[in-house]
Amino acid sequence: MPKSHAPVYYADYLRLEQLLSAQLPKSTEHGAPAHDEMLFIIVHQAYELWFKQILFELGSVAADFKSDYIDERSIGTAVARLGRITEIQKVLIDQLRILETMTPQGFLEFRDFLSPASGFQSVQFRLIENLLGLSAAARLQYNHTSYHSRVTAEHQEILRASELQPSLFDLVEKWLERTPFLEFESFNFWRSYEAAVKAMLQQDRQTIETNPTLSEEIKLRELQTLAKTEESFSVLFNETQHDAIVAAGAWRLSYKATKAALLIHLYRDEPVLHLPFKFLTLLVDIDELFTTWRQRHALMTHRMIGTKIGTGGSSGHQYLRAAADTHKIFSDFFNLATFLIPRTALPLLPPDIRRRLGFFYTAQAAEHGSASGANPNHV
Ligand code: HEM
Repeated sequence: MPKSHAPVYYADYLRLEQLLSAQLPKSTEHGAPAHDEMLFIIVHQAYELWFKQILFELGSVAADFKSDYIDERSIGTAVARLGRITEIQKVLIDQLRILETMTPQGFLEFRDFLSPASGFQSVQFRLIENLLGLSAAARLQYNHTSYHSRVTAEHQEILRASELQPSLFDLVEKWLERTPFLEFESFNFWRSYEAAVKAMLQQDRQTIETNPTLSEEIKLRELQTLAKTEESFSVLFNETQHDAIVAAGAWRLSYKATKAALLIHLYRDEPVLHLPFKFLTLLVDIDELFTTWRQRHALMTHRMIGTKIGTGGSSGHQYLRAAADTHKIFSDFFNLATFLIPRTALPLLPPDIRRRLGFFYTAQAAEHGSASGANPNHV
């Protein structure tokens, strides 16, 4: 801190004059002041401020992940920043309750003055979607127009530029593809996992077939369910089929990245995989919290405007519900749960590999029979 710095005044530091003079209700301008419009403006402005913070955090994580080598400190930082985003998202969901203190009739007093402005035009919201990895092709269209068509030419340019940047999804996929843990000299994760899955499914089949308490009808039903599980796993173990599913758009993550993500989930108890696991879990949390916000916003819209169309011209809450179902980014990470197997069925890692996946001081402690001299260097 330089000694000679000029004293700072609270209101100047926070630019309060600009900030607090930016609430200008349209109803007042039109000579028909509507009390609730102040709340409506402030809630939207608070959202836009939080969107700015989310973009700031996401941008810094994406910047770190652009590097070809990402050390564990960066993963730790990413985990802290993504964790911050999830806390903000919880506030964003809760904030809708404040707006719901406005009644639908209170909203009607000024709604017409806003048209055709709509949250649909929130450029920062679109930038968050793009940075996370919602592709233009995966977006729902309403009235057969793209989301660009509702914003100014200047904003369209900003959005198109953001679509050309690698998204967090792309960067995480590349990072997973580079994971060094899929094959060691003495251990092939994928082959061992496949063998463990086969043994587990065989055991499940035998349990059903030899269970004397099940009727033939129930046995048949259970075996049919098992056959479906076997089918999902057989796609997982066949790269060509996996790639066909990716090409058809039903799965997005590359084969190599899928394998690495599974390894991280299955062996997350190994110290070196703790942070990557936490990181992948946070991506799922962020996606889930955005979906929850979308669902909550759709419900609020329903109670505010019923079945009317939105000020932006969409079908209103119906469009918003469909967007909540469709606009997901990290679904593949949710779907990984299909392929998890119990810890007891997991192939044991050879001791040398366990040591390499542990903290350095753990290995030393095992060798010297002491836990002192902590040196948290990873492999
Ligand atoms: C009375 C309260 C609100 C109502 C009735 C409402 C209604 C709507 C409707 C109907 C749409 C669909 C587009 C359209 O036809 O206009 C929409 C989209 C949107 N609104 Fe709201 N909204 C409200 C409050 C908010 C607030 C507080 C935010 C916070 C920024 C917000 C953010 C958005 C966003 C980001 C979209 C685009 C969603 C997407 O395309 O997936 N809305 N809103």
